[in-house]
Amino acid sequence: MATLGVNIDHVATIRQARRTVEPDPVWAAALAELGGADAITVHLREDRRHIQDRDLEVLRRTVQVKLNLESAIASGMIDIACRIKPDQVTLVPERREEITTEGGLDVLTHRAATAEAVRRLHDAGIAVSLFIDPCARQIDAAVDLAVEAAELHTGAYAVATTEATRHDRLVDLSRGAQMVRQAKLQLAAGHGLTYRNVMPVARLDGMGELNIGHSIVSRAVLVGFSQAVREMKSLMTLMTDRT
Ligand code: PXP
Repeated sequence: MATLGVNIDHVATIRQARRTVEPDPVWAAALAELGGADAITVHLREDRRHIQDRDLEVLRRTVQVKLNLESAIASGMIDIACRIKPDQVTLVPERREEITTEGGLDVLTHRAATAEAVRRLHDAGIAVSLFIDPCARQIDAAVDLAVEAAELHTGAYAVATTEATRHDRLVDLSRGAQMVRQAKLQLAAGHGLTYRNVMPVARLDGMGELNIGHSIVSRAVLVGFSQAVREMKSLMTLMTDRT
C-alpha cells in the first residue's frame, strides 16, 4: 500500500496572505500525523511565498514521521537543505512566476547542476528524490544520477478532461512506474491528486508514496486536518475504483 506524504505548503499560504502567525503549518503537521500521515512535505521556495525558514527549522525538530523537503537545485537552497538535514530532499523545478510547480525537473537539460545538488545532498547523508515527468528519457537520466527515488508528476493525469485522455495519462504513469521499479528506485507520485482521482494512481504496481497537498488542505478547511488526512488514506487503501 502506498504511503501518504501530506504537503502543508498551503497552510502557510493562508498565513502569508496576512503576513501573520496563523495558521501555523507546524500545527498542521502535528494534526496530519494524528490523521495518519506517513510523511510531511514542504517546499521552501526561493521567493518564500509560503513556507518560511523558521517553519522548516521547527518542523525538523517536531515532525516525527519522514520530513521531505522539496527544493530547487539552486546552490543556496541546497546549502539550507544540507544544514537542516530533512530525511529526504525532492528536487523540483522552480520558476518565480508559476502558480505551482509546473512540469517535472528537466534532468537532461540541467544534468550538471542536478548531479552537483545530488552529490552535495548525498555527502550530507540525505536521500534524494527527483520530481520528473513520466517520460522514459527523464527516468533514464534520474537512474543515471543514482538517486534513491523518483516522484512521477501526475499533473497531466489530474487535468485530463476526458476519460480517454485520463486513461492515456494513466498508461504513461504506469509505464513510468514500471521503469522506476525495474531500476530499483523507490516510486512516488504527486501533483494535482484529489479525493476523486487518487485511487487509480495509488493502485499502480509498486507505488511507494503519494504526495498530496492542495486537495487535503482544501478539505481540511472544512472538516479539519486530521479527518481530511484520514479520509485520503482510507481512499488510498480501497481496492476498487469508485471514481
Ligand atoms: N509533489 C511535488 C513535487 C510538488 O511540487 C507538489 C506541489 O507542491 C505536490 C507533490 C503536491 O501537489 P498538490 O498540491 O497539487 O497536491
